[in-house]
Formats: sequence, C-alpha cells, structure tokens
Amino acid sequence: MLHPLLAGRWSPASFDASHDVTTDEIEALLEAARWAPSAGNSQPWAFIAGRRGEDTYQRLARHLAASSARWAPTASLLVANLAHRYVAGTDWEFSEFSLYDLGQAVAHMTIQAQALGLAARQFRAFSRPGLTAEFDVPGHWEITSMTAIGRPAAVPPEEAPPPSDALSRQRRAVADILWPVA
Ligand SMILES: Cc1cc2nc3c(=O)[nH]c(=O)nc-3n(C[C@H](O)[C@H](O)[C@H](O)COP(=O)(O)O)c2cc1C
Repeated sequence: MLHPLLAGRWSPASFDASHDVTTDEIEALLEAARWAPSAGNSQPWAFIAGRRGEDTYQRLARHLAASSARWAPTASLLVANLAHRYVAGTDWEFSEFSLYDLGQAVAHMTIQAQALGLAARQFRAFSRPGLTAEFDVPGHWEITSMTAIGRPAAVPPEEAPPPSDALSRQRRAVADILWPVA
C-alpha cells in the first residue's frame, strides 16, 4: 500500500496567506533535504529560503513569472533550489548527478512539508537570470527550480483533488512505466 504521505501529496495552486511557517518547520524542511542520498555523498545542493514578510522572500518573489506571481506570493515560504553544476572556475562537471541529486533533496523537502501538515508546489516559472543576479549566484551553481511551501488555501470542492482519486490522478499506469515502454 502506498504510504499516506505519498498518496496525499499534491501541489496546491493557492496558499493560505494568513499562515506562517515557524523556524522549527523551516529547519525540519532543510534537515530533510540534507539527509537525501547523493552520488558519492557529494550533496550538490543549496537553498535560498525566505519566509513571507522577510526581505529574502521579497527578493525571491520579485523574479516570479507572470503565471507563478498569481499564486506563489501567498505561500508561507519560498525556496530557490540550487544545484552545484561545475567545479568553480572550470567547465568540469562537479558531479554528473547534481541535478538528479538536487531533485531527490527537493523531494525529501516536499514530503517533509507534507508530514508537517503543509504542502509544496515546485515550479520553474521564474526568471533564472533575474534570480541569479539578485543573489549573486556564481556560474558554477544553477538555480534549477523553486518551491512554494505553505498551507493550501481552502479551495472549492470541484478544484481540490479528490483524495479517493489520489492514486490515479493524471498518472501513467504502473504497467506503462515498467520497461519496455512505448
Ligand atoms: C521541476 C518541476 C517544475 C514545475 N514547474 C511548474 C511551474 O512552472 N508552474 C506550475 O504551476 N507548476 C509547476 N510544477 C508542478 C507540476 O505541474 C505538478 O507537480 C504536476 O502537475 C503533478 O501534480 P501534483 O504535484 O499535484 O501531483 C512543476 C513541478 C516540477 C517537479
């Protein structure tokens, strides 16, 4: 049976603007990422995390795309997810698995959010050059994705994912992901 944390996870497209994350919750989210597996234990990840109301949050929100600017600014926490792509000052890959490993760390953070009674929506709808310049991120790091974390806003029942459908919601069937696939 699928674990309830996995079965119940979904990516809300609206967050409760009256909810705040605590410092302990932010620490738990970062701890979860920290304990993700990585190739050679290289841990090729870093995070820029801003709580709503903080300067870092405003600086992250400034670079949202038009689409994410419609829903992300009510999240309690915005996180930029960075991958260590290259050895500083060279064009040598830091790890051929850096993006893969960052994804695992973000998945850990996402499930930890779920365990805290929060929810996360990962997204790519932001200006990578804008955010890179905003935080002076050097060329050997890449801001790969962002995550909005918070308490889902109350949504009309017709918009909320029905829990009973959680296992089949817009997903390829198990038979279709077992090799060979079409
Ligand atoms: C790498 C990545 C990029 C994504 N980019 C966006 C995005 O730019 N905008 C958005 O609204 N959702 C984005 N999503 C959320 C996905 O659309 C969502 O996870 C997918 O539809 C499955 O829905 P679920 O997470 O509720 O199961 C992204 C998710 C991932 C993992």
